This record gives sequence, structure tokens and C-alpha cells, in this order.
Amino acid sequence: MAEHTGELAVVTGASTGIGYELAKIAATDGYDLVICADEAKIEEAGRKLAQLGTKVEVVQADLGTEHGVTVLWEKIADRKVDVLMANAGRGLGHAFLDQDFEEAKRVVDTNVTGTISLVHKVGRQMRTRDAGRILIVGSIAGFIPGAFQAVYNGTKAFLDSFSEALSNELKETNVTVTCLEPGPTDTEFFARGELMDSSVGQDDSKDDPAMVARTGYDAMQKGTRQVASGFMSKVQATFAGIIPDSVLAQMHRKMAEPGTAENT
Ligand SMILES: NC(=O)c1ccc[n+]([C@@H]2O[C@H](COP(=O)([O-])OP(=O)(O)OC[C@H]3O[C@@H](n4cnc5c(N)ncnc54)[C@H](OP(=O)(O)O)[C@@H]3O)[C@@H](O)[C@H]2O)c1
Repeated sequence: MAEHTGELAVVTGASTGIGYELAKIAATDGYDLVICADEAKIEEAGRKLAQLGTKVEVVQADLGTEHGVTVLWEKIADRKVDVLMANAGRGLGHAFLDQDFEEAKRVVDTNVTGTISLVHKVGRQMRTRDAGRILIVGSIAGFIPGAFQAVYNGTKAFLDSFSEALSNELKETNVTVTCLEPGPTDTEFFARGELMDSSVGQDDSKDDPAMVARTGYDAMQKGTRQVASGFMSKVQATFAGIIPDSVLAQMHRKMAEPGTAENT
């Protein structure tokens, strides 16, 4: 464990997966933590992270609601947030017209509205101090029209674009914005997003969340604007700008359509 710095890192969606790994790296780097997720499992994550010897405060709040964002904000509003890792997000498989609209809206509310609402509040605080680092977890999915995960990919396209734009707006300050673009990563994301009947859900060559988190964390500390994690994600990010959207949508269909798991 590195020396305790007394600096504060806020990590959303830190109960499992990439967010938990991001929080673990920050704890080992000596940051105090405020971690947030919607379900009670965040308490267990808090206990495990505290064993790394850092101060951990846990907030259980639904960041897909204005109330949830306010609950988290009230915990940090009058403190110096050195690092914000806006990672909380959810997926949703199946054809758009077969999805429950409230579930689809929850994806937008969490991934887009909740994320930018928190970034707006913390970002202003950082701009006033002229210091701070923001990591937004986008996705390689944001470069691909996501047939059978249409809303999710749309939210990540928003975040990929938003992050780049905000980084530009802040380029004359000492506040940096980094967008991490993971490819398929071995977390609970696919089970939670009802994607286990798809080929991508069953793919057993997904990236390790610890590797993905390390890539994002290091890029954030360097102030890099955008980083893809894993070799295949880098390849996909490169080709996504060249291959026509209609072809990408068809490729996405082959990995996300329900029933494609049987072809794996
Ligand atoms: N896994 C992948 O293949 C992949 C690829 C690209 C990008 N990503 C992105 O990486 C991020 C982390 O996902 P993951 O793969 O690590 O999946 P995960 O294990 O399912 O983690 C998602 C985290 O977000 C939290 N969360 C979800 N909805 C929330 C809400 N409304 N309010 C507060 N917290 C909420 C979850 O906590 P609760 O369960 O308590 O809600 C959990 O802590 C997401 O933004 C995801 O879109 C994942």
C-alpha cells in the first residue's frame, strides 16, 4: 500500500466489476474513498476496500435518479474531490421494441443523466480550484450502433462524445477528463443486462476487469483524453471509424441478438 495521501477519490458503481477494481487501485495508491452503488452489496465492497488500510465511506444511492445523485453530492459537496471516477452504468439486451421501456429509460437515466449530473457538480468544484481528474467510463460500444443493445450503445456514444468535448472545454485548466473505452469485460454486466443468451454474453475471452481498470486509472493520472483497454478494443476503436455504420450494426447483431449464444 502506498503512503496515505489524504486526497479523496469518488468512485461510482464500485460494488463490483471495473468500478470495484478502480476503487481498489485508488485505495492502494493512498486515496481516501467515497464509493457509491445502488444496491446493498456496496457495503461489502466498502468493508473489503477498508482492509487495504484507507478510509472508505459508502453511499447507497440510485444514480439514475435526481434524488440519488443529490444523496451522493451531499456527502462530498463541501470537500475537495481530487478524483472522480464516474463508472456506474448498466446494459440492457434484446430488441428495443421488446424491452420494457422503463428499464430502457433507466439505462439512459443512469448512464447519461446521472453521470453528467454528477460530473457537472464535481467538475464545477474542480474548475474553481483549478485542479482535479475525472474519469468517465464510456465503452467501445459507443462507436458501434448496437443492434439488440440499441439504447445502451447510444448512451455510451453520448458519453464518448461528451467526455471529449468537456476535455476540450477544460483544456486551459488543470482539470483533466479521460474517457475509458472498455471492450467486453468479465463482470456482472452481461447477467444484469439480460445478455446471457447472446454470443457476447457467453464469450469466455472477455478482458479482466482489473486490467481494464488499471488502463483507465493510469490514463486518468496522465490526463490522457481517451483510452481503449485491451488489444481487441483498440482494434475495434480504430476500425469503427472506417467501417460503415450499417455493417457495424450487423456485426453487433451477430454478437448481441438473443439466441446467438448457441453459435458460440
Ligand atoms: N463489462 C463490460 O463488458 C463493459 C464494457 C464497456 C463498458 N462497461 C462499462 O463499465 C462500467 C462498469 O460496468 P461493469 O462491467 O463493471 O459491470 P457491473 O459489475 O455490473 O458494475 C456496474 C456497477 O454500476 C452500479 N450501478 C448500476 N446502476 C446504478 C445506479 N442506478 N446507481 C448506482 N450505481 C449503479 C452497480 O451497482 P448496483 O448493482 O448496486 O446498481 C455496479 O456497482 C459501466 O458503465 C459499463 O457500461 C462495461
